[in-house]
Amino acid sequence: MKSISVIGSGTMGNGIAHIFAQKGFRVSLVDIKSELLEKALATISKNMDRQVAKGMLSEQEKDASLDLISTFTELEKGVAEADLVVEAATEHLPLKLEIFRNLDQLAPAGAILASNTSSISITKIAAVTQRPDQVIGMHFMNPVPVMKLVEVIRGYATSDQVTKSVMELSRKLDKDPVEVNDYPGFVANRILMPMINEAIYSLYEGVAGVAEIDTVMKLGMAHPMGPLQLADFIGLDVCLSILRVMQEGFGNPKYAPCPLLVNMVEAGFRGVKTGEGFYSYT
Ligand code: CAA
Repeated sequence: MKSISVIGSGTMGNGIAHIFAQKGFRVSLVDIKSELLEKALATISKNMDRQVAKGMLSEQEKDASLDLISTFTELEKGVAEADLVVEAATEHLPLKLEIFRNLDQLAPAGAILASNTSSISITKIAAVTQRPDQVIGMHFMNPVPVMKLVEVIRGYATSDQVTKSVMELSRKLDKDPVEVNDYPGFVANRILMPMINEAIYSLYEGVAGVAEIDTVMKLGMAHPMGPLQLADFIGLDVCLSILRVMQEGFGNPKYAPCPLLVNMVEAGFRGVKTGEGFYSYT
């Protein structure tokens, strides 16, 4: 695989474009507005500067990597030569299904269609295409250039060959891929989100304050961030939507989101991206 198209240039999309370009792949980054693409390129450049400052990348390698990224506002042009498409658009089911219907029409017949979804069923996404055996999940973690994991999710119809190719490709990105099956929350969020929800319940029930809960988990369990800070970093709306997918998918009340989380999202407190969550970022 040489040519990768990334759909969506937000936090995850620009991180995914960054690491593919850094490893020498040609990247077509696609979004609906050119301002979003310009912002994404500036973010990639800034994040590469961090790597240059640490000696992980030379200035020449940074420039060569940036040269490998082309930007497109038209999906048709952006995926015309793709060997692999990685979709990293907003976590909204109708939008994802629409994108995959279009990708199926527009991407070359042999191209693998991957989604970076954190909780939407790969099987459901694959079912709207004529190539469900070539549809797979590639769930990167934020911040993509730093985190080693790629959760590789096999949909019900994903072929062994496609899974093997995506596992190998992930290793070429210097990541450690883990293969999992397609059930709600996969593995990463099935375990992470109940922990975050329980931290929010601990706050809601007055067991301890925000800083105290995070300190217990940081110092007691060696987590780099406490669960409430991590929830802010992921986005409280994203946490809520993943919990609802699991609650509905398993039909089990143990995944029901804490009422405090629901209230915060409804009030517009979505974490780092809105400036307010469990902490203030203004
Ligand atoms: N690009 C490149 N490098 C980056 C970066 C980026 N976007 N963000 C951070 N870094 C680098 C920094 O340069 C720094 O490097 P050195 O330590 O070598 O100097 C290093 O990462 C740490 O960054 P900082 O010093 O700025 O801050 P930190 O020590 O607090 O670490 C962190 C930041 C890496 C984010 C760390 O707090 C962490 O690991 N947090 C947990 C992250 C996590 O759990 N992510 C998964 C979220 S869940 C998810 O993504 C999936 C989902 O479906 C919800």
